Amino acid sequence: MKALVLSGGSGTRLRPFTYSMPKQLIPVANTPVLVHVLRNITDLGVTEIGVVVGDRAAEIEAVVGDGSRFGARVTYLRQDAPRGLAHTVAIARDFLGDDDFAMYLGDIMLPDGIADAAAEFTARRPAAMVLVHKVADPRAFGVVELGPDGEVLGLVEKPQEPRSDLALCGVYFFTSAVHEAVAAIEPGPRGELEITDAVQWLVSAGAPVRAHHYSGYWKDTGRVEDVLDCNRYLLDAVRGSVAGHVDEGSELIGPVVVEEGARIVRSRVTGPVVVGAGSVVRDSHLGPYTSVGRDCVVVGSRLEDSIALDGASVTGIRSLRHSVIGRSASVGPTGGGADHVRLVVGDHTRVEVAS
Ligand code: TTP
Repeated sequence: MKALVLSGGSGTRLRPFTYSMPKQLIPVANTPVLVHVLRNITDLGVTEIGVVVGDRAAEIEAVVGDGSRFGARVTYLRQDAPRGLAHTVAIARDFLGDDDFAMYLGDIMLPDGIADAAAEFTARRPAAMVLVHKVADPRAFGVVELGPDGEVLGLVEKPQEPRSDLALCGVYFFTSAVHEAVAAIEPGPRGELEITDAVQWLVSAGAPVRAHHYSGYWKDTGRVEDVLDCNRYLLDAVRGSVAGHVDEGSELIGPVVVEEGARIVRSRVTGPVVVGAGSVVRDSHLGPYTSVGRDCVVVGSRLEDSIALDGASVTGIRSLRHSVIGRSASVGPTGGGADHVRLVVGDHTRVEVAS
């Protein structure tokens, strides 16, 4: 079996971060989403991985390389524009050959892994198998209608009147039968070649298509709130370890990771928290549920349920919560009095202050 990981797309919902980085590299518990994805795939014993990349190919390649650090061999497949999930299968045709493959969106988190799903696909080998998850409001998702034996009866993209509460998770298993389907379909109303249309084509052609009910934690990291939710979930599993320096005036409570070269000075850190290599936390309260990237500075501040990306700084802030601070961004006091706020914010940035 091979794998096809989708790391193109435009990431508009994650602006402003996606102006300067592909969304698949947003860190969750200080590790990019895409790295979590690749680990889930290599955990299956799959080592031939095609990674679909768009405009931000260079940054993806800088992190993933040739795949050897994951024990895999990565082939990059360039997509000229986000023309849809099924379009990525078309451009991967030569790479995939006639092999079975798992198609995995590069921006979703399934921390419990996909081993059970892969085992079911291998055992039954239907033409297609989709991972589905029960959701409260299926209207924002691809929705699957199932027969009594787990067979897929139909799929609809973002239906106004959903016929089930089972949403597509973003992992699909295919045999080579999918290529005929992809070649047969036309772009949908969004102008994209939709993978749901390809799977529906297989269903309509009478090919066996199954759904695997995924009951573990699942999150599409499309929006900032989702990234923070994921961060909390992954941090809950973190075990404390201190490779950096914690001075005598500091207190660590619960699981706290202090990476090499990081320094905690006169601060109280309530886990789960991860402090990345080379970062400094001084005279501050950190946590719980906070990830601080590499080479960050947190001074005289309180930071909770937040993510600071590499090189960010937070100084003199009484309380910052539910926040994501971009690479080398700085948050600090104005000196202009208690009611004064001064901002230098980029395009599509969101700022929330006490009113
Ligand atoms: P989406 O989240 O559906 O699309 P997007 O990345 O354009 O995001 P937004 O809606 O915020 O603008 O894409 C799911 C995943 O598939 C994501 O990792 C990007 C990837 N993708 C491709 O690689 N090629 C494509 O043509 C599309 C549509 C998505």
